[in-house]
Amino acid sequence: MRGNRAAEALGAALALGALLAALGAAPAATAAPPCTEGSWCERSLSPDARATLLLEELTLDEKLSLMGGDDPSGVFTGEPANGTSDGVPRLGIPTLYFNDGPAGIRKGEATGMPAPIALAANFSPLGARRYGAALGREAFAKGIMVTHAPAVNIARTPLGGRTFEYYGEDPLLAARTAVRFIRGQQAQGVMSNVKHYAANNQETNRFTVNAIVDERTLREIYLRAFEASVRKGGVASVMLAYNRVNGRKVTDNAELVNGILKRDFGFRGFALTDYGFAQDSTADAANAGTDLEMPQAFWYSRANLQLAVDSGEVAVSTIDDHVHRILREMFRFGIFDRRWPDAHEPDDEAIPVRRHARVARRVERQGIVLLKNSGGLLPLRRERLDSIAVIGPEADSYRNGGGSSAVEPFYAITPFEGIERRARSAGIEARLDDGSSPAGAAQLAGELDVAIVVVNDNMTEFIDKPCLSLQCGDPANGDQDGLIEAVAAANPSTIVVLETGGPVLMPWIDRVPAVLEAWYPGQEGGNAIAAILFGDADPGGRLPITFPRREEDTPTAGHPERYPGVAENAQYSEGVFVGYRHYDENGIEPLFPFGHGLSYTSFHYSGLELRPVRPGGGVRVGLEVENTGRRRGSEVVQLYTGLPDVSPSVQQPPRTLTAYRRISLHPGERRDVSFHLNRRAFAYWDARRDRWTVEPGCYRIEAGRSSRDIRLHESIGRGGANCGRHRRG
Ligand code: BGC
Repeated sequence: MRGNRAAEALGAALALGALLAALGAAPAATAAPPCTEGSWCERSLSPDARATLLLEELTLDEKLSLMGGDDPSGVFTGEPANGTSDGVPRLGIPTLYFNDGPAGIRKGEATGMPAPIALAANFSPLGARRYGAALGREAFAKGIMVTHAPAVNIARTPLGGRTFEYYGEDPLLAARTAVRFIRGQQAQGVMSNVKHYAANNQETNRFTVNAIVDERTLREIYLRAFEASVRKGGVASVMLAYNRVNGRKVTDNAELVNGILKRDFGFRGFALTDYGFAQDSTADAANAGTDLEMPQAFWYSRANLQLAVDSGEVAVSTIDDHVHRILREMFRFGIFDRRWPDAHEPDDEAIPVRRHARVARRVERQGIVLLKNSGGLLPLRRERLDSIAVIGPEADSYRNGGGSSAVEPFYAITPFEGIERRARSAGIEARLDDGSSPAGAAQLAGELDVAIVVVNDNMTEFIDKPCLSLQCGDPANGDQDGLIEAVAAANPSTIVVLETGGPVLMPWIDRVPAVLEAWYPGQEGGNAIAAILFGDADPGGRLPITFPRREEDTPTAGHPERYPGVAENAQYSEGVFVGYRHYDENGIEPLFPFGHGLSYTSFHYSGLELRPVRPGGGVRVGLEVENTGRRRGSEVVQLYTGLPDVSPSVQQPPRTLTAYRRISLHPGERRDVSFHLNRRAFAYWDARRDRWTVEPGCYRIEAGRSSRDIRLHESIGRGGANCGRHRRG
């Protein structure tokens, strides 16, 4: 088993640098026993009321001590946590323990879940809930009260080093996935800390880059998942990003934090800083709404805060608000009332390891995207083959993403192990070749019936990919494109399995009949890949991100002022034309479009009906989907809406994902699928009026299998417009 530990270590080390190393570790503290003394211990009171009572007992110095982390050494070791904020023993306020993250708990061994982008590819609220719940249970068993997850930044460029950690390029998909993850996790009594707020879309210059984004784009694209996490997920905590937005560090950005996050979205939890370089002021940050500096109080040291209060720059009421928010969430999550497992001695025995492995396997099976399958090569059938060559530098390794999402899995089933085991059970021989000699690999491929080439990229926090080809991100693995070409030339039945964190270029696409995107597949990856290859499960995944044909086709390509930015200013001048919105608007044919994913069966869509619920309200959309093939299959029905342009300066993308539903159908089975599109599905952010507005006009509703495989469409009027056969809405 080989992971990218070097990249992980580099990411962690560079993330904090010498600054924190020099600060040293605070003495370890353990979680306090349940609250029994004090009026705030009264459990029948609301978390708000209890926080208010407790706040009254705290001295100013004690309050200030709660606004910063206390043990930065955990960042490097994960022990006892990768973030610690000591409580106040005098009043029985327990220590808070934090840990990463989006792909699993990074403290000792844990379930290695498929990368978050694979979860997004599930297009499944239930899958996201199970994933979040599993992480919540593991965090609890390890004494972790807050996890730095989910990560919901939009994939503005597929070069982004953290693309694997996020939920793709569409704000609705990211929002829905995040909300269910959060609900699943928080139902286990563990707080989620959604990150990284906001417009943290690149690793190049990540501490300093200034994202210059207009308000409409922010609201519609980059803030939407955060808004949903707050409003619908009830998220406890939000991580404030390293970067600047429109000239100000996020942590100093009163408009973003106090204004949009707290006032507009109604966020009542606490906002903490990303680690090390997110904050660079005391009073400005306190007045902008930054509640907690992590992982070590520096700007928020008691001395600095005391000075700011004494000089009148920061009001005591502002300090009270910060501390109240933290205490309120602690009460809400039972941190005073339950006996928490000790973070110093985690109880891994309490983790339902096998159940969580099933979650990992199911999410991966449902997240693998069958990109291409010519001539019905897949699923593999015993009648047609006796032998398989499994080829690739990491075909027998565990591949995950680096940085703060690198999890040490309990175990890992590699692609070769999974395929070999499954093949053996069908009486098929599987042989491994590491591909180090393309000629040797081609010879083996030529001798056996089918060749499966497993290739990967290498993504990590801190470093964007310099380009989109396979070898570009990971020269250590040699010329993987060349390897595929050599194998495909030797065996026409060549299948490529991609273990990548996002899109890669496929110069060989016309020469291989079948391609699977397995992402970073988690500890059960090999089993899930085998299940899809052999047809034990229908390939469930749909692309949460466009795969471009050429690097020049991506939304920021050819515009260095957009990405990576010039003089640290990244102009988001593509506006809302991010991901498929860009490809559709500019008539660019992608290699594989957003929403794409083949099934082993076929589906027929019919009977699209739109019905306004009431004038000015939502719209009911109904249609029928039939499995017209001979196998049971899973389908993700996708609804897209085309909004009318508002003005030359407020243009709308041709289509925007507004709903989706995963269904599973037996052969011949038909299902009525209905959706409710609320007002927001028709609205755009009207920057002039500072609110969501529905423009009168005709709205096109499309139903399809992907953003480029639209099966049905109809129009409906809004705001009194008459659009043909449908009533005015
Ligand atoms: C990352 C965060 C992570 C934190 C703690 C930072 O470098 O940007 O996503 O939660 O480290 O590990």
